[in-house]
Amino acid sequence: ATGPIVVQGAMPVEAERFAQRLDNPREEQIGGWRFWHGTVDGYPVVVSETLKGMSNAAAATAIAATRFQPVAIINQGTAGGHDPALKVYDIVLGRYSVSLGAFKTPKKAAGEGSDSRQWQPMDLLASKGSAGEDKNVHSIRQFPADAKLLAIAEGVKASYTRGKVVEGVIGSADVWNSELDRISHFRASYHTSVEEMETASAAQIAASFAIPFIGIRVLSNNITNQGKYDPQTGLACQDYVYQVVKAYIAKT
Ligand code: 5AD
Repeated sequence: ATGPIVVQGAMPVEAERFAQRLDNPREEQIGGWRFWHGTVDGYPVVVSETLKGMSNAAAATAIAATRFQPVAIINQGTAGGHDPALKVYDIVLGRYSVSLGAFKTPKKAAGEGSDSRQWQPMDLLASKGSAGEDKNVHSIRQFPADAKLLAIAEGVKASYTRGKVVEGVIGSADVWNSELDRISHFRASYHTSVEEMETASAAQIAASFAIPFIGIRVLSNNITNQGKYDPQTGLACQDYVYQVVKAYIAKT
């Protein structure tokens, strides 16, 4: 395999640091998205600014998959904690990711209100028929990390001094949850360690192209333990992922 490693980050603070560490960088604009082509230790790497949210992440992943034929895609950046044991600056290696935006509500009459904890997950990939009527779609779809990428990401843990590095579950949706009961419901039902807005979407598209994938996320905030928002965490995550990329290249 000779295709590049693609490193994705949604916001400038989650992508530009890595782009600046590329050797011989060249910027390319495709539609609304920026890509930086360069090398690390002589191996091609593309940094992709996906922009925020599920649709942007999916589109940027499809563009990268078809234009660059990557050997691997790493989606990285900031996230909010669901696990009170995790602190701001801790890093979660996504063993798998799930969508926290695909649900079916129970039927309720006018005036009966709404409680999102009663919603059932809806796996939009489970069948070709209407997910609204299909009874067999109510388990949550897991998008697993590539085993080799996960092992390599585990292998560089010792390089990280800003917090701890753990394996966990990444939940994604175009929602910023600040209701503690909803967050603890997600954690109890789907084992989420963190939430953000891109990983499950990028993972779904990478899987459609059979491209090895992993999500790596730093906690920039954690309202379950009063962890205050710190955008600088996005820089620390890129430095960690830089070590993952170097280790991957050393094994290629
Ligand atoms: N909830 C949702 N998204 C978050 N992000 C960081 N923390 C959170 C959180 N608690 C990330 C998303 C998105 C941007 C808002 O920051 O991935 O790109």
